[in-house]
Amino acid sequence: MSDLESLRSKALEEISKAETLQKLHEVKAKYLGRKGLVTEALKRIREIPPEERRNYGKKVNELKEALETALREKEEALKKKEVEKALASEWEDLTVPLENTVGSLHPITLTLRRIVDVFRGMGFTVEEGPEIELEEYNFDMLRIPPDHPARDMQDTFYVNKEGYLLRTHTSPVQIRTMLKRKPPIQMVAPGKVYRRDDDPTHSPMFHQVEGLVVNETANFRHMKYVIEEFLKEFFETDLPVRFRASFFPFTEPSAEVDIGCVICGMKGCRVCKGTGWLEVMGCGMVHPYVLEACGVDTDLYQGFAFGMGVERLAMLLFGIDNIKVFYENDVRFLRQFS
Ligand code: DAH
Repeated sequence: MSDLESLRSKALEEISKAETLQKLHEVKAKYLGRKGLVTEALKRIREIPPEERRNYGKKVNELKEALETALREKEEALKKKEVEKALASEWEDLTVPLENTVGSLHPITLTLRRIVDVFRGMGFTVEEGPEIELEEYNFDMLRIPPDHPARDMQDTFYVNKEGYLLRTHTSPVQIRTMLKRKPPIQMVAPGKVYRRDDDPTHSPMFHQVEGLVVNETANFRHMKYVIEEFLKEFFETDLPVRFRASFFPFTEPSAEVDIGCVICGMKGCRVCKGTGWLEVMGCGMVHPYVLEACGVDTDLYQGFAFGMGVERLAMLLFGIDNIKVFYENDVRFLRQFS
């Protein structure tokens, strides 16, 4: 009997000291398992003299029930503690709203749309061509000779298929449009172009917008008017524009277009290299060779074309002096355009 008493007090103490469910299960096995101390004590009932058996049996059963109750209570308490611990460490406040998750258009997209919108307003259609282009359309049909430096592997990305490359300008869309459709043509072609350039003012991928007008009377004065009107609308001011004689294989005559530096107001700065002028596009009368290569009758039709760099115009429009910020995806930069 006194053994039972000390068994009880030892068991209850161990139960109350158990810190984990694992430990508690060990205590349970020690006392109530198949070979547990209480189980053994129950088995010993046969060895007890008959007159004491009743009393002994009652006591052992009481002990067993008391331990079962204590174990159950302790188990619940430990489980509750574990849940509380998990809640405290894994808790997340799902009600906190995320700040500013609404996206916005990229400044290059904004600039592209702005350019295209001005030309749409002047009755131009919008054309597109593939970025993986035929070498024939990108160079040959534009009268760019086989030994021209632009064709060099150093300057152009070629792809693993004979006769194809990543287009180096949007001018091949001129070819595609004339092959596809009869004049009159009055189109712009926005898109990505690729060159093996990578420095603070050049990115290996950038954007251009090409323009082409082919009809019976298109001449240099029409071209000048269209470009001047475009620049006025794009920059929303009547800025100084000049046409400088230049050369492109696919136009004759050719010109480069400068605008008065919008950064310094023509006083001369780092961006305009002290000249007060900024080059913004190339243009010219489409070379008869190009028209004829596309099946356009040069006795009936003539045309002009122009091509501009979108990053350049975006930098001038928004006052940005580094082309790289367009491709770094720094949200602090991008958010300024939302
Ligand atoms: N394709 C030329 C370039 O990437 C730009 C250009 C110049 C396009 C004159 C034209 C043009 O249509 O007439 O440098």
